[in-house]
Amino acid sequence: MSKIVAIDGPAGSGKGTVAEILSEKCNLINIDTGATYRCVALAALNNNLTLDNVDEIVELSGKIKIEFTPDKRVLLDNKDVTDAIRSKEVTSIVSPISSILKVRENMVKLQREMAKNYDVVMEGRDITTVVLPNANYKFYLDATLEERANRRYKQYQEKGIDMTLEEIKENISKRDYNDMHKEVGSLIRTDEQVYIDSTNMTIEEVVNKMIEVIEE
Ligand code: DC
Repeated sequence: MSKIVAIDGPAGSGKGTVAEILSEKCNLINIDTGATYRCVALAALNNNLTLDNVDEIVELSGKIKIEFTPDKRVLLDNKDVTDAIRSKEVTSIVSPISSILKVRENMVKLQREMAKNYDVVMEGRDITTVVLPNANYKFYLDATLEERANRRYKQYQEKGIDMTLEEIKENISKRDYNDMHKEVGSLIRTDEQVYIDSTNMTIEEVVNKMIEVIEE
């Protein structure tokens, strides 16, 4: 039977970094589900669609080809979009796009397909609850809004993405609300998740805590 580690949590809580390290240490395939929604958002922008074009976005989400390569690149219809899906434009529309029910259905199907037959660590908002409810290990990774905005700000500065700390904080706060109030696939806390507040923890401490739980 395959080993499945599921991590949910709000934007900037460190899920991506932690999943990356965990995948290497525990020999798991890392699946970043947020990247799949980001691909739909980028495809919508590339096709000059706005958030009003729901039917077209749904149709697009069923047609596009999304792949994660072994060298950790994200391909959208065979094109490398690893950096493009992190742009300000994509980030500002991805949450409402991920609220479209039929888009979620298409992405959940794809995410389950990606996890099939592999040992995986999968991170997102609804992994422990909807996508892989039978996961062997379930975590909810959290941090305060201030800390998460600071982390994103640093990441963006390193990548040369031009956004002020205030803009980032506002974007994360909006996404938090949206991600926690979806009709389906909302980010929620459950008794089955191990809750980790990473506000005052280093990445290494978070990873070690998770490994402790996994090895228990
Ligand atoms: O993790 P991220 O910031 O790259 O995710 C981008 C958006 O996708 C986020 O605002 C919420 C949405 N998302 C989701 O609804 N369900 C997931 N499993 C992962 C992400």
